[in-house]
Parts: sequence; C-alpha cells; structure tokens
Amino acid sequence: MNAFSELDVAGGGTTTALPGKSAVTLTINGKETRLEVAPWTTLLDLLREYLDLTGTKKGCDHGQCGSCTVLVDGKRVNSCLTLAIMKDGCEITTIEGLAGPDGALHPMQQAFVDCDAFQCGYCTPGQICSAVGMIREGHAHSDDEIREQMSGNLCRCGAYPNILDAIKQAYAATEKQAA
Ligand code: FES
Ligand code: FES
Repeated sequence: MNAFSELDVAGGGTTTALPGKSAVTLTINGKETRLEVAPWTTLLDLLREYLDLTGTKKGCDHGQCGSCTVLVDGKRVNSCLTLAIMKDGCEITTIEGLAGPDGALHPMQQAFVDCDAFQCGYCTPGQICSAVGMIREGHAHSDDEIREQMSGNLCRCGAYPNILDAIKQAYAATEKQAA
C-alpha cells in the first residue's frame, strides 16, 4: 500500500472507499473517470499517482513553475494548486490527451519537435498545455505577448527562444487553418 491507497477508482476492481472520501467525476482525455478521493487530493496527484498519467510533471508543487499545467474545460491551470474535488464534472486534458486519435501529434507538440524547443524536457508538457490554452485565449499576437502570457512556465534549461519559435509556428498553423 502506498500513500495514495485510500483511493477508490471506480471500475478498477477496488472498493475501499473510507469515511471522509469525496466522490468526483472527471472526463480525463475524453474518458469519464469516477473516483473517490481524500478531499485534499490535488488534481496533479490524482493524475500522476492515481491514474499513472505521469506526463504532467511536479516541479515546485507550489504554483511557481508551471510544469504541472493541464487544461480544465479548455483553460490552463496549475494542477498542483487545484483540488480534484473542485473540478467535479470538468473535462481535463493532459499532455497524453493532446494527440489525435490516430496518434498524430497536436500541432503544438509537432512545433516543439520541429523547433527543438526542449532540452531535458521536464517543463515541456506544461509548456505545451499552457501554449495551447494561451492560443485558445487569443493571446499570441506578438513575441512580447507570448513571453508575458507564458511567463508562468519556467524552463530551467533556458530553451525560451526555441519555445517562442515553436509557439509562433503552431499559432501560424492555427491561423492558417482558421482562414
Ligand atoms: S508543480 Fe505546479 S506550478 Fe510547479
Ligand atoms: S527543457 Fe529542461 S526545464 Fe525546460
């Protein structure tokens, strides 16, 4: 048993719900998932420790680095600062859910590859989810705006110039598609 063994994943074969648990239903990467979790469980821990969706990274665990960024109903959030039960009924998209059903990379993922926009890669899932959310918000009109809007996503390897190039490439592709 690990620290998270109090979790009951519906349909997962365990029925160990204990008093003090809260039920939460999330649609994660298109799949409805019903869980019973301790009320203090963060969305980040739910994804990584309970569902093995380890693409979302834990950096600071204090809302300072952005490596845990996921999309909740299309909006980017720091999952380390978000209690899972607060998002009951929401749609969660993680880095694992961005690719198409045929496995084709999301344009933002492809742009990061094309532009060599990472070194160690630890910040990359958060960078990509945040960039996808930023473009949806309509905030990618200039280099300065992108830098400002992405300032919550830190890269300890300093890959910022290439990250900027990747976001601009993906944004241009999105604009072209919309035209
Ligand atoms: S791990 Fe969430 S902001 Fe750093
Ligand atoms: S690529 Fe290493 S932290 Fe960003």
